[in-house]
Amino acid sequence: MKLKITPVESLQGTITVPGDKSISHRAVMLGALANGKTEISNFLMGEDCLSTIKCFRAMGVDITENEGVVTVNGMGLTGLQEPKDVLDCGNSGTTTRLLLGILAGQPFFSVLTGDQSLRRRPMGRVTAPLNQMGAAFAGRQNTSLLPLAVTGGNLKAIKYKTPVASAQLKSSILLAGLFADGETMVEEPAKSRDHTERMLQRFGAQLKVDGCTTTVMGKPKLKGQKFSVPSDISSAAFFMVAAAIVPGSNVTIKGVSLNPTRNGIIEVLQKMDANISIINKQEEAGEPMGDIRIRGGTLKGTVIDGAIIPRLIDEIPVLAIAAAVAEGKTIIKDAAELRIKETDRVATTASELAKFGVDVQEQPDGMIIEGGKPMSGAVCQSHGDHRIAMAMAVAGMVASGETVVQDAEIINISFPGFDKTLKMLINN
Ligand code: S3P
Repeated sequence: MKLKITPVESLQGTITVPGDKSISHRAVMLGALANGKTEISNFLMGEDCLSTIKCFRAMGVDITENEGVVTVNGMGLTGLQEPKDVLDCGNSGTTTRLLLGILAGQPFFSVLTGDQSLRRRPMGRVTAPLNQMGAAFAGRQNTSLLPLAVTGGNLKAIKYKTPVASAQLKSSILLAGLFADGETMVEEPAKSRDHTERMLQRFGAQLKVDGCTTTVMGKPKLKGQKFSVPSDISSAAFFMVAAAIVPGSNVTIKGVSLNPTRNGIIEVLQKMDANISIINKQEEAGEPMGDIRIRGGTLKGTVIDGAIIPRLIDEIPVLAIAAAVAEGKTIIKDAAELRIKETDRVATTASELAKFGVDVQEQPDGMIIEGGKPMSGAVCQSHGDHRIAMAMAVAGMVASGETVVQDAEIINISFPGFDKTLKMLINN
């Protein structure tokens, strides 16, 4: 599918974006391991979360969906069954890495694989600690690439210092820790998103969080829950940036997750002089949320680096569009992790932005963008990466002439209905 974008006069209106991807995955996983029923509304019906549902169904979990409400009939901590076939995680790194943690604790054999992109992504960061806990893996390049075979069970608790601030890695170890006796401790170099911790607590696990160190007590009795998933700030990000860079825009995005480990984009856009305010602050599913209102204006370049990076890692492609429009230079650094996402997002963001005539220099751990020059429409590739496709659609809104985003169906990974939401804001 091709997405065609022409310059927009302004974006106006109030929208909602789909449920948070990270929270939706975790809700299914903990729901499956809990006793009793878990009812999740505003669940993200994107392809990544559907991959998680498919994998858990293959392990005997009854999961149903009715009008956006997903019901998981929990099997208890020891109820999963050996899957009869290879578990396909599709494009989803979160499904794979968190599931590896859970499979490490199962007294059965399983095999995981994924699509071409996922089969290139590093899994050794997860198999190393899980192996220390007692799980056995077989796979290419010393168990660092999918497909991976797992023989789990009989885990022992460990204390582990992660080499990178990765929520998928931290969560994988914490989930494996549920199946070990005693306390499993994970320390990370900077704080990554904490949805696993919040949700484990909600489901009744015993957890201690002290700065960047999290400790979980093994063998809890988890209890099914009922909650609604806040909307995903990583999906809202595309419309936040679009509204901020199109003069005269006035957009409100309702019920967005404002988890402090995820809201770095708000701070950066404010530093760039964007006009953003938060209203109607509430809490749902143990997560802070609120409405985000953005008005169009003039942005200035900035530096994005250090501890804020894990708090906005998925938003960097679209922040690069804000930087291209902003007056002056923007430097993005300390973001080498971007190179091992669904695509090498340093390379794909830089190469696609260059097609619009943007002055962008790729760096080993980020990029330097000289903003403020007029952009001209381009024919862009999604590279099979949902966030690259949507970021380029945002660029098309401020570039002269027509922009075409090729292979745009990949957007369904995280944001089904992206084009409809965009049309609503244009036609208001
Ligand atoms: C995620 C963690 C992040 C993020 C990804 C979702 C999660 O990945 O980029 O989109 O749900 O835990 P890393 O753990 O690799 O940083």
